[in-house]
This record gives sequence, C-alpha cells and structure tokens, in this order.
Amino acid sequence: MKNKWKILIVDDDLSILRSYQKYLESEGYTVFTADDGRAGYIMIEKERPDLVLLDINMPVKSGLDLLADLNKTFDKKDVPLIIMLTAYGDLDAAVRAMNLGAYEFLSKPVPLEKLRSTVECALETLTLKERVAYFIEPDNTPFKDTIIGRDPLMIDIYKTISSLKGNKATILVTGESGTGKEMVAKAIHENTVPEEPFIAINCAAVPENLIESELMGYVKGAFTGANANREGKLEAVKGGTLVLDEISEMPYEFQTKLLRVIQEKDFYPIGATEKKRFNGRIVALTNKNLKELVEKGKFREDLFYRLNVITISVPPLRNHISDLEMLILHFIKKANFIMNTSIQSITKEAVDYLRSHTWPGNIRELENTIQRASIKAKDKILTRDSFSFLVPEKKEQTEQKAKHNTLDEIVMPEKLTPLRDVERNYIEFVLKQTNWHKGKTAELLGITRPTLDKRIEEFGLHKDV
Ligand SMILES: Nc1ncnc2c1ncn2[C@@H]1O[C@H](COP(=O)(O)OP(=O)(O)OP(=O)(O)O)[C@@H](O)[C@H]1O
Ligand SMILES: [Mg+2]
Repeated sequence: MKNKWKILIVDDDLSILRSYQKYLESEGYTVFTADDGRAGYIMIEKERPDLVLLDINMPVKSGLDLLADLNKTFDKKDVPLIIMLTAYGDLDAAVRAMNLGAYEFLSKPVPLEKLRSTVECALETLTLKERVAYFIEPDNTPFKDTIIGRDPLMIDIYKTISSLKGNKATILVTGESGTGKEMVAKAIHENTVPEEPFIAINCAAVPENLIESELMGYVKGAFTGANANREGKLEAVKGGTLVLDEISEMPYEFQTKLLRVIQEKDFYPIGATEKKRFNGRIVALTNKNLKELVEKGKFREDLFYRLNVITISVPPLRNHISDLEMLILHFIKKANFIMNTSIQSITKEAVDYLRSHTWPGNIRELENTIQRASIKAKDKILTRDSFSFLVPEKKEQTEQKAKHNTLDEIVMPEKLTPLRDVERNYIEFVLKQTNWHKGKTAELLGITRPTLDKRIEEFGLHKDV
C-alpha cells in the first residue's frame, strides 16, 4: 500500500539524506533524493513525488526559494506536500515556509519515529484530498450574505421579487421554519427601496396590548404614561419595508386595524384625531397555514384575502435539494468569515452524507450543521466524520413517533379539567389577587382590556362582596 507513495528528500547533508532514505524505504515508500534546491526542482518535475522533505539552508538554491518557484510554476493542485526540515534556530524561515504553503516543519535532528508519524499523517491528508469534492478558494473580499439557490423554485422567487420594483403591494411570504423567509423579505427590500428604512417586528414577541402603540404610535396624553408623542413603526418606516414576522400571532382584535392600514394606506396613532399616511410596503411572514387558521376562526378572513394577493412560498430545503452544494460552499465561507475557521475543502462522502439527510430544520439547520462541523474540524477539510453528530432520522423512528402521537396512545390522568375551566379559574384568581383592578389584571395576563371584559362577561365572573 505504502509503495504507491513517492517521497523526495532534498538536503545537502548527505548523512541525513542516506539515513532518512534508508528508513523510509524500509517503511515501504519509494524514495528519491537530491542534494540541493535546483536538483530538487528537477527531480520534482521528473518524478512528481507526493511528498517532499525539504531542507531550508542549502547551497545553490535554498528550500524557501524552491518552494517559491513551485508556487509560481506549478498548478496549485500539482504542488507536492512539503515538510520543511529546519536546523535549530531557523524558526523565522520555518514560519515563512508555512506561509508559502508548507504542510509542516520538523526540527533536525528528527527522531525517526517522529519522521514516520509526520509523513504518515501528511499522506493521510493527501488521501483525503483525492476524495475532495470542492475546494474553497480563499478570497479576501468581504463575505456577502445573499440569497443562494439556482433551483427553478428559487428562480421563480427571484422573478416575483424583481417584478415588485415600483409598487408597494403587500406581500405574504410563507414557508416552513428555517427556509429563508426573512432572507426573502430582505431581498425584496434590497431590490426595491434599499435606501429606505427596513423594519422588522415579530408579532409573537410583542405583548398583545403593545402591538397597537408599537405600530401606530401615540400622542401625548393618549393614556397614563404617554408623556410625549411617539412615532410608530408604520411612520418610522417611511417609504421602506415593514416586515411583520409571525403574522398569525397578530392579536385578532388588532387585525381589523391592520386591514384598514393596508386598504386605506393611513392610520390614527392612539389618541390622535388626525390620520397619518403609510407610505411603506408590508411584508408579512408566516410558517403557519393561514387558511386553516381562518377556518378555525383564529385569523380574520378579510385580512387573509388582503394579504394573500402576492404570495411567495419559500420551498423546504428537501424540495430544492439541487441547491445543497451551493449552500454548503456558501456556509463554509460564512463560517470562515464569521467564526474565523479556515476550512478549505469538503469531501465527496461528506457532501453525499449531507444530501441523504432530510433537513427538517431546512436551511437554518444546514447552516448550523456546517458551522458546528467547521469549528470542530481538526484539519482544514470537512469529512464525513466531521458530521458524525448529525443523527439521521430513521424511517422507523419517524413512523413510531407518528404512532405515538395518536390520541389513544398518550397516557393521561383519569380526569382532565376542560381548558375553558382552567381559563376561567385562572382569570378569576388573578382578578382576586389584584382586588379586581382590571387594568393590572389584563396586563398580568398579557391580554387587552376589552378581551378581559369579554371574558368576565362570558364566564359570569363577579367581585365577591
Ligand atoms: N437561500 C438562502 N441562501 C443563503 N442563506 C440562507 C438562505 N435561506 C436561508 N438562509 C439562512 O438560513 C438562516 C435561516 O433563514 P431565515 O431566518 O430567513 O428563515 P425563516 O424562514 O425566517 O425561519 P423562521 O420561520 O424559523 O423564522 C439564516 O441564517 C439565513 O441567512
Ligand atoms: Mg424568521
């Protein structure tokens, strides 16, 4: 097996030359020798060794000069692996050699055992390199986080985006979690009004009672604590893009007001008597099926139809898996840039392995996976082993899970309290704690005052006297 590897030793110290040669030959390698840099170069051209043990200080041509020549005259992929042999105190030169692409350096005298292990290790990387699918060319241009993908499904998305120039139509972007909906929203902005503000709010993260003031703003004195006028996002966004992420979580009561903004292009800040114009574009994102929510009465039908005029459906990664390789390379570069890793290549086995995964978490999962593998990779190469943490979800497991999810398989206490009773008791409890202070109660429960009033009436709650 080993004799398939050719090793060249270049050193002007003949005793070293002979002893290393003898040792490596006894290990089964095919070994050539040269006693200065120029002879070394000729030998490399002629024999095409896989690995060169290269002394630094030599007459006629030094090891460093030889290395520089190789870089100039050979294709990068044809330059053999170089291990520099350095004398004591040659550290500067060794560092320069590493910068010129040497794989490793060894200080002379090198114990033979050390020589053997270093050579073996170096040749192992070569074995890997033979299997490399992609090289990531180092480039010094700053990393640009753009939308990647050439699949027809992605091309359709780009076409829709480019048709949006010059109008302010409301857009609905749907897709599973991690598919790139926010990325699409940013692309819409960049391609239409890049010089205007881009504002994103997550409807699930804003407390129900604050959403109105967050979007519409308020005037001084509109409510206790409104000490000055405050501009809402609808105004702050000017002619730009307002992203409403997780639109399904928009409070039901507020949905009518949002519908009005979309239809009339104007709104009243809380407490204001004069309308303000809305000049931006709304891009609503959701990973839920809004139509189903409409059927269940959880989302207003009129708002749904108003949002659903131009819809961009971002496909799950498994439906545009042809983009996988481009995405992998993109995320390796991104990790190198952001995490300061220095991955240079990835093997075919690794790519095949990633292709066999089902990616339930879509592109976000792929990005995290590449990042994690890049951080823990020992060499500058990602192999199948770098992804050993990625446990494939077996078919039987998925089936089992599905089975366990049927109602009769779930183990439950004998008697369950109906949800309505839980809600009733909970509201009653908080009302008692606040001594029926409705404002405080609504705030504690994270619902609006009108919602609280509605519940009190529905449940027939009374203050005990
Ligand atoms: N086509 C793509 N090209 C490059 N990077 C992408 C692409 N799609 C997604 N990403 C990256 O994947 C990650 C997740 O994307 P994004 O946040 O847009 O997903 P999302 O659909 O909004 O997910 P969620 O529903 O969970 O909020 C981001 O880091 C984003 O940069
Ligand atoms: Mg998102």
